Amino acid sequence: MSGTTFPRLFEPLTLGARTAPNRIVHAPMSVCYGHADGTVSRAEVEHYARRAQGGAGTVITENFAVSTAGRQMPLQTMVSGPEHVPGLREIADAVHAHGALAMVQLVHAGRYAGPWDVYEQQRRLAPSVVEFELTPGRVVTPAEITPAEIAESIAAFGRAAELCAEAGFDGVDVHGAQGFLLSSFLSPRTNRRTDGWGGDAHGRSRLLREVVREVRRRTGPDFVVGVHLMSDELLPGGWTIGDAVALAPRLVADGADFLFAIPATFESLRVPPNVGLLGRHRYAMDDTRALRAAVDVPVIANGRLGDPADAEAVLVRDEAAAVGLARPLFVDPDWPRKVAAGQADTVRSCPCDPPACLRTQLTGSVCDHWPPEVRARGHFGLAPVATGGMP
Ligand SMILES: Cc1cc2nc3c(=O)[nH]c(=O)nc-3n(C[C@H](O)[C@H](O)[C@H](O)COP(=O)(O)O)c2cc1C
Ligand code: SF4
Repeated sequence: MSGTTFPRLFEPLTLGARTAPNRIVHAPMSVCYGHADGTVSRAEVEHYARRAQGGAGTVITENFAVSTAGRQMPLQTMVSGPEHVPGLREIADAVHAHGALAMVQLVHAGRYAGPWDVYEQQRRLAPSVVEFELTPGRVVTPAEITPAEIAESIAAFGRAAELCAEAGFDGVDVHGAQGFLLSSFLSPRTNRRTDGWGGDAHGRSRLLREVVREVRRRTGPDFVVGVHLMSDELLPGGWTIGDAVALAPRLVADGADFLFAIPATFESLRVPPNVGLLGRHRYAMDDTRALRAAVDVPVIANGRLGDPADAEAVLVRDEAAAVGLARPLFVDPDWPRKVAAGQADTVRSCPCDPPACLRTQLTGSVCDHWPPEVRARGHFGLAPVATGGMP
């Protein structure tokens, strides 16, 4: 795009069989604008369309649950049956209307599944019975997932990917990070199994690999499959970047078209020295570079890259193929358009810590730094914001 001082960001990006118009990816960010029954809401359609309208070349939704057992948040969208397809199609069409690729992040929340108010009474699926602190002071004990439930979970990911393809999405992103089911299997701390789903790194990564294979099998070669890979658990005795680097080429062989390197879990973020990690400038870049060197598919950099000069530098230095932005596009969906137009100085910054967008998730995230009229509406959707403009 002419006029920009950051040209690399606006080069096309090939992800599997599809090409995005630029290298700016909306990274998954759970805003929870869906309906309680798991179907898509109008606010959600507008929210994602607005990210594409603002110029992101690829829009990956927040994590949508592949099953009831894998649902975490009360307003989290689900992808488990035909009743979800019409709403999903509205998101895909609305994103495509602005020229971006549209993808869905798929999750099984595992031991983090909700609803949290009755958490102790629910059966929460984990590789092993290892108690953990859900929120400060609240220790809960998950149940050991059975082989039959593992098979159901793999099938649920495959089915969800098939439904996304039917709804017109270009691809899906498998959530294998943050402590949800797939990454809880990777970790030797939470996976103490002695059957074929545990043991060494090979056994612990089997579930994630089988999910990627199943998603590929159920969708075909033209569909894009990405993986959010836990790059380092950041806990003693946990999954390491060395483990992630060894696994990454296997995931590509299984069918992954792109990877994100995602350090930490909800648990490890509460432990010094990881407290405040998500606020640190370029915090995932070491892991991103390590994965980038291990695979020949695009690795998407993410983590406090909201300064356009930083984002461009990642590409110029060939540290990654693209830049994923979550909070920067939440506070200012016009980040890409402004940067393309040489108006990077007008990008609204994302300074708050702890993030208000995390605090407000249960009822639908809002940003403390939106203009008042957007805050009053409760979401930064299309109307009444004019195309290409910011209030
Ligand atoms: C409110 C909130 C919700 C998030 N939800 C998700 C999610 O659904 N899936 C995911 O993989 N990461 C999620 N993340 C992490 C972001 O994708 C991203 O990795 C992190 O915010 C760092 O990128 P940023 O600095 O561009 O925001 C979330 C982050 C925030 C702040
Ligand atoms: S609430 Fe804060 S952290 Fe979240 S997007 Fe807005 S400014 Fe950024």
